[in-house]
Amino acid sequence: MKTVSDINELRMQVKAWRQEGLTIGFVPTMGNLHAGHISLVTEAHKHADKIVASIFINPMQFGVNEDIDNYPRTMDDDKQKLNSANTDLLFTPTPAVIYPNGLSKQSFVEVPNVSDVYCGESRPGHFRGVATVVCKLFNLVQPDIACFGLKDYQQVQVIETMVTDLSMPIQIIAVPTSRESSGLALSSRNGYLTTEEKVIAPVLQKNLQWLKTKITEGFMNKESIDFIGLAKQAAKAIDNAGLTTDYLHVCQAQTLQPASEDDTQLVILAAAYCGKARLIDNLTVKLS
Ligand code: PAJ
Repeated sequence: MKTVSDINELRMQVKAWRQEGLTIGFVPTMGNLHAGHISLVTEAHKHADKIVASIFINPMQFGVNEDIDNYPRTMDDDKQKLNSANTDLLFTPTPAVIYPNGLSKQSFVEVPNVSDVYCGESRPGHFRGVATVVCKLFNLVQPDIACFGLKDYQQVQVIETMVTDLSMPIQIIAVPTSRESSGLALSSRNGYLTTEEKVIAPVLQKNLQWLKTKITEGFMNKESIDFIGLAKQAAKAIDNAGLTTDYLHVCQAQTLQPASEDDTQLVILAAAYCGKARLIDNLTVKLS
């Protein structure tokens, strides 16, 4: 696997592949890679000839109170994992390469509505930072396809909306969440969990499963479903187990608007603090 930090080198390699008639798949990451990230590379191989991954801890998507300096950096280990997954090219730009004029002068991409709620509300400016860096990376790599993890469900909706709204010729492939056997979604942030916290963290996913069962039962029995009341019950159970729920909502799967009786494609979105770690998770519910 070749590693480049320079834009011209990246462009030259991608151009050479294009001249050979090869297609390009792209997996953007912030590093500290685990099996969830690698599953995106594996999926990308099914859809494209050459796979480019990037590792860039994007300052634009971190809030002022979020500790970007302590974000885990494990480059050597990450390279080994990407190499074992047959990644063809790794792009590791510095902030100066991505934001040469500094963040304050940077043009940005804002995806309205879908960015404003849930994680967008708890982390103001976060999705602007995500959309802007992904747009820039797409312009640099010019992939045919790009893979994103459904663990970050709202992020996938933001990227899909951006690609549609800005007519980007890129197919977005959403990849299912990789989990530990306890049900806990794999995340770089799990590294912040203590041994005791690791034991209680799976309660988040367990309660999303409970809520899904309740919604499905209500639908099968043709009852009117109290989405808000059920979500509150799930949040209370999560808090009682020792986590602190940030939000937990039953939403329409595409627009992320609050679910209503007529919706059949739903997603339960949740974020909760477990000690210092802010965990996010979700579960889709298809009623038919
Ligand atoms: P990062 O958190 O490093 O995640 C990179 C990609 O891996 C994202 O698409 C994310 O959804 C996916 N991912 C993380 N955990 C996963 C899991 N357990 N199962 C499946 N996929 C998983 O998300 C970002 O970086 C950044 O916001 C980025 C898109 C790179 C823009 O800076």
